[in-house]
Amino acid sequence: MAEQAVRPEIKLPEVKMNIYSPRNPVEVPVVENRIVTRESSPNFIRHVSFDISDTKLQDNIQLGQSFGILPPGKNEKGRPYKLRLYSLASPYHGENGNQRIISTTVKRIIEEWENEGELYLGVCSNFLCNLRPGETVKMTGPAGRRFLLPENRNDFNYVFFATGTGIAPFRGMVYDLLKEGIESDIYLIFGTPYRTDILYEDYFRGLEEAHPNFHFMVYVSREDRRADGSKKYVQFAIDDHQEQFIPLLSQDNTLLYICGLQGMQAGIYKQLARHNLYEYLELKDSIQGKDPDEWTSKDIKRRIKPGTRTFVEVY
Ligand code: FAD
Ligand code: A2P
Repeated sequence: MAEQAVRPEIKLPEVKMNIYSPRNPVEVPVVENRIVTRESSPNFIRHVSFDISDTKLQDNIQLGQSFGILPPGKNEKGRPYKLRLYSLASPYHGENGNQRIISTTVKRIIEEWENEGELYLGVCSNFLCNLRPGETVKMTGPAGRRFLLPENRNDFNYVFFATGTGIAPFRGMVYDLLKEGIESDIYLIFGTPYRTDILYEDYFRGLEEAHPNFHFMVYVSREDRRADGSKKYVQFAIDDHQEQFIPLLSQDNTLLYICGLQGMQAGIYKQLARHNLYEYLELKDSIQGKDPDEWTSKDIKRRIKPGTRTFVEVY
């Protein structure tokens, strides 16, 4: 753990926003598109890389930010599809140290609609997953000004919670923190439905082996159960590994990042409150004193904000 002195100020970098807008996107080629779920998985998640050479995105997109993709085609009202955002998954210096190549992690949305039993394929995720190297996309961005690593990175410990493709930003963040030689603790707790869907497992296990201060924990929701029979969801890591997380989260210089499914935000907030870790939350007066077990989704949305040491990107 980084030693706790006076609470360090969190210096977030100034970032560029929307250099390319939906009206003025940049066209870039795909250079790689590979599946990252195993063969026997019921899900299809892909690692997709783009060449941003000679565009204004090069050097101007930061870890934690996203870019937009404008899928071709029109919706049922005849209007062009709106952009969808995807988190940057590459380190600051790009894929394999090549600053010109950025990547993301995309899950194909494949659903069967209950009433009609009709198959629905998500517009942009399937467009991206179907692309072959050499084909191009219309890209916008960068987007996002708070879900970032601080400039004074060495002053902090990090606890990263991810579900599904929410692991994307942490792929680059963990790599860069370790490469910069940070010695404080970094925990990445990743939630996934099946073992076949542990994204970038070899990559994170390799980093864990090489760096004793980095810990990769996997919570498999549909194959494992907790001792009390409840589902293995990432937020319960705080309970299941109290001896590690309570001292770590109680330090003034620990930062908490949450990325992935909307639902995990409420789950993590409640766990923090149950362990009296209110420092990570900003509660409005109207909810002060209310039992966290009674917090509604409206409370979470309207009456609780992330505290200064909490960074949230849910979708
Ligand atoms: P859509 O076609 O938009 O469908 C999405 C949902 O809407 C489906 O559940 C579908 O059932 C429902 N729906 C659509 N049309 C109808 C209809 N007519 N009637 C009823 N229901 C309908 N995703 C990633 O995979 N990786 C990332 O790294 C990532 N990062 C993100 C970062 C941010 C900041 C945000 C906001 C989102 C991020 N997303 C990410 C989500 C991504 O932007 C898309 O929302 C996702 O890929 C689905 O888009 P789609 O076009 O495939 O699905
Ligand atoms: P489950 O689907 O078993 O309920 P993916 O996006 O690849 O489906 O992964 C999302 C992961 O997050 C799954 O393991 C999913 O579990 C889990 N999950 C779903 N709802 C929540 C929640 N409210 N809190 C934490 N994890 C959740």
